[in-house]
Amino acid sequence: MTEITSLFATRLYHAKLSEHGAPVDPAELENSCLVIADDDEAGQDWCEEHGYPGYTSYASLSDLPWRFPIFKDLVAVLDAHVAAFAKDLAFDLGDKKLQLEDIWINILPEGGIHTGHIHPHSVISGTTYVAMPDGASAIKFEDPRLAMMMAAPTRMKDARDELRTFFYAKPEVGDVLLWESWLRHEVPMNMSEEERISVSFNYTWG
Ligand SMILES: [Fe+2]
Repeated sequence: MTEITSLFATRLYHAKLSEHGAPVDPAELENSCLVIADDDEAGQDWCEEHGYPGYTSYASLSDLPWRFPIFKDLVAVLDAHVAAFAKDLAFDLGDKKLQLEDIWINILPEGGIHTGHIHPHSVISGTTYVAMPDGASAIKFEDPRLAMMMAAPTRMKDARDELRTFFYAKPEVGDVLLWESWLRHEVPMNMSEEERISVSFNYTWG
């Protein structure tokens, strides 16, 4: 009897934000992101100094949930999603919890990209999508074993998702994606004239 199993899984969580907790109004969230970005001169300066395309609040605003009620509501919803994902991952959390470490806004203009990266010092990372105009890019995930595949052939174009070396997720507004923080990812170029807006976050175990 032949048996082929999958081992050492990389899980990707994709859900509607509204599947847990109190609804977060997408229009209000989008407006809040734009207003915060517009007011955050320190953040704008940081982006300019670091050649960052568009805007991120990552370096300038570390307390969005305390300053803005809609972010507090969003975090309550995200906590429930992260708890559901931790259950799927069979994490033994003991008497500690996964808790929010950082949450930040990303506004990616036409032509903007975010090159490949991981999120150090975290356990679960994720993004919720606030504005995804037509032509806004997906998020691309990379097989963490890529460096070990020196002589391996590439995969068939129609390979199952779990066998692909790269996977492009195409989230819609109101969706949330979660993954383990070691999983390398990037945002390919935004080909839309309109801004791609997302809110990203890290959870730690503590
Ligand atoms: Fe990221």
